Amino acid sequence: MSLLIKNGEIVTASTRYVADIWCENETITRIDRNIPAPAGSEVIDAQGKYIFPGFIDPHVHIYLPFMGTFAKDTYETGSKAALIGGTTTLIEMLCPSRAEEPMAAFELWLGKAQGNSACDFTFHMGVTRYDDKAEKQLTEIIKRGISSFKIFLAYKGAFGLSDEELYKVLQLAKKLGVITTAHCENEQLVLELQKKLLAEGKTGPEWHHESRPPMVEAEGVHHLMSFAKQLDAHVYIAHTSCEEALREAVCGKMAGVNVWVETLIEYLVADKTFAERPNFEGAKFVMSPPLRDKRNQNILWNGLRDGIVSTLGTDHAPFDFATQKQMGIKDFTKIPNGMPTLEDRVNLFYTYGVKRGRLDLHRFVDTASTQAAKLFGLFPRKGTIQPGSDADLVIYDPNYRGKLSVKTQTMNVDYNPFEGMIIEGRPSAVTVRGQVAVRDGKFVGQIGRGNFLQREPNHF
Ligand code: URP
Ligand code: ZN
Repeated sequence: MSLLIKNGEIVTASTRYVADIWCENETITRIDRNIPAPAGSEVIDAQGKYIFPGFIDPHVHIYLPFMGTFAKDTYETGSKAALIGGTTTLIEMLCPSRAEEPMAAFELWLGKAQGNSACDFTFHMGVTRYDDKAEKQLTEIIKRGISSFKIFLAYKGAFGLSDEELYKVLQLAKKLGVITTAHCENEQLVLELQKKLLAEGKTGPEWHHESRPPMVEAEGVHHLMSFAKQLDAHVYIAHTSCEEALREAVCGKMAGVNVWVETLIEYLVADKTFAERPNFEGAKFVMSPPLRDKRNQNILWNGLRDGIVSTLGTDHAPFDFATQKQMGIKDFTKIPNGMPTLEDRVNLFYTYGVKRGRLDLHRFVDTASTQAAKLFGLFPRKGTIQPGSDADLVIYDPNYRGKLSVKTQTMNVDYNPFEGMIIEGRPSAVTVRGQVAVRDGKFVGQIGRGNFLQREPNHF
């Protein structure tokens, strides 16, 4: 299997030039001008297009038992949607319940993905309980190729950890050379505010963000910073939504904490008024941390531009509006939290970031691909274009014009939160380790081709 991509403008986090890319089997083996096409090789003319390294989504939920239901995508639908949108690597949050044994959960999640994914994948190992038994199994799971944990300081009684557990998880992570990603919200404050709002008869989705104001998130980040500083642990703040939380992370950085920040495409292009839409439509936009005041968007864009925010994810968590979101029709605390964005992250980021002059092409690639590869032990296999890297390539057409719609999406959910929004660019072809998986917006790849990406700890 050989593939030659000719005349494209290669853009990585730090370089930009026109050249041909020669891929043998699964790997990029040569980048040069005027590479001749050997007989039998597949050739793609990328004249007038960018060639980006495959994008990495560092925060995805595919198999997610949550709030009395399950997120809608399978690896088949989710990986297809990801690839159509230019994402070639998924890092899924593996979220067991407290009652589940970590190793059994790891096997369960791996089984859901292996043989069913069209793109490569790995997991952040969710730690939702900590005791001696869990510690032994987590140590084994690291040996199986996982080098990151996921913890929740939110969702009391479900995924949330006590402070004692938080301390011990970070201690173990430090010992094993693992980075810990964290959902930072003070779970007790959320619970108290939810009770107060419901008691006042405030039951609609428009009250969701009032139950989780910025200080609730900022307190979660501050809390994590205190523990991480004490233990010299490496931590990553998932889905940072607002100035207050970002400030706490920056204070942590200045205090010497090894901390990195993720934001989500949702926070950049939507604000809390979306969740205030009438007739329960706001439920489509209920996620945690919630969509914020619009003023936060510039702060997050600037953070991405300046490197204060390292990565852009989705926290893709699709729940049908007609059925699942209705579980909270009388009580917003029962609306399954999450939005479907896996397919549209890159195109929205390009359109509303690069095209609107908010960040340059290099920061675009860095925050949507390279940084995640570096932080989570995938670089330079993923996240860049150079000889020896996996041939995961996005041939991107900056002249494409289109609109997002549930009618044309591949994500397995009954709405698109950004219905009708314009995109100015999309992948015209996407490769997965040297094989074309998307052409002109259509999936032409192979279900089951996606590999579990084994990662090493101590890669910092
Ligand atoms: O609202 C969200 N983010 N749902 C998915 C679970 C989580 O909190 O990451
Ligand atoms: Zn979360």
